[in-house]
Amino acid sequence: MQHNSGIKAAPTDRARSTRRKSPAPETDASLGRIVRVLMGYPTVVISGTKLAQEIGTTRSEVWRLVEQLRTLGVEIAGHPSSGYQLTAVPDLLLPEMIEPLLRSTIFGENVHHYYRVGSTNTVAMDAAAAGAPEGTVFLAEQQTAGRGRASNQWHSAESTGIYCSVILRPALPPSDVLVLSLAAGLAVQSAIQEVDSHALPDLKWPNDVLIMGKKFCGILTEMNAEATRVRHIVVGIGVNVNQNSFPAELEQSATSLRLTTGIEWSRVEVCAALLKSLDREYHKLLENRDAQAEILRRFEERSSSARGRQVRVEEKGGFEGMTEGLDPRGFLQVRTRQGLRTVYSGTVRFK
Ligand code: BTN
Repeated sequence: MQHNSGIKAAPTDRARSTRRKSPAPETDASLGRIVRVLMGYPTVVISGTKLAQEIGTTRSEVWRLVEQLRTLGVEIAGHPSSGYQLTAVPDLLLPEMIEPLLRSTIFGENVHHYYRVGSTNTVAMDAAAAGAPEGTVFLAEQQTAGRGRASNQWHSAESTGIYCSVILRPALPPSDVLVLSLAAGLAVQSAIQEVDSHALPDLKWPNDVLIMGKKFCGILTEMNAEATRVRHIVVGIGVNVNQNSFPAELEQSATSLRLTTGIEWSRVEVCAALLKSLDREYHKLLENRDAQAEILRRFEERSSSARGRQVRVEEKGGFEGMTEGLDPRGFLQVRTRQGLRTVYSGTVRFK
């Protein structure tokens, strides 16, 4: 099922691993450096020589990089003889744009960017297994094999959404990871409200964030763990930001911030707000003894469907009932005719 939200099952891990190609190339850091230098002189035409000096390369290399940026939609006026000037601030999730906004967080030092990648979660899980530090962030303009929960696909159109995965290494048992994942939903909800105080994002257990009943954000939390100890976690967040439309099969269930507010959003601003908010939730979870209960309480409070909502659960043959809050581990409770049932992993559909 495509899951912003909707359709087909993604390939199984086995199928994926036999077909795995060499990893997508990371974005050339010089591109981000050029953008930053041009942004530093917004009203001035900068000569090719000056740009070349600033980033430590040749004029012909600057020309090549400028041409590449143009193909990526960055608006740069001028040419080698006259010099260059940015005509619009680009909304690309380049490390040079994001890192300065995240200095006070664990996410400010290791941001990796891809113009196109299979799945940022897959790249992050591989990097974590190879020893990448906590707080490493993977961002992409486009995913060709974006993954959702329960082997669903995540529709990941170019430069309209945020496709972000982060590596965490908390000293927690695997049983606490669901609470961390619920905290990520709370972080998204707060971040969106910080950027637009009129927005009313709603949480749907376990990891969907909705506006006006339609999904605009999904979270895929994956981990590598021993029975008692988490080795690493990857929290993957997909946010539909500036999509104007969705494929027909998603139209009924998916929305974007742009479609719900009528305005174009800065992905850089949303992404930075999101990671700052996630950093706050993560620190609360690790530093405060009562944090888990508090996260569950807040989730119930900020979700219109965690209690008192008639649902159908696609799990163990399917069952229906009324939601009755979360249990102390973070699983959804549903009151059915046969009694109280706990939802472990099934998809929850509103009735
Ligand atoms: C869901 O709602 O099913 C979860 C969707 C998670 C999508 C994000 S996009 C960034 C990261 N990379 C992926 O392949 N998936 C997550």
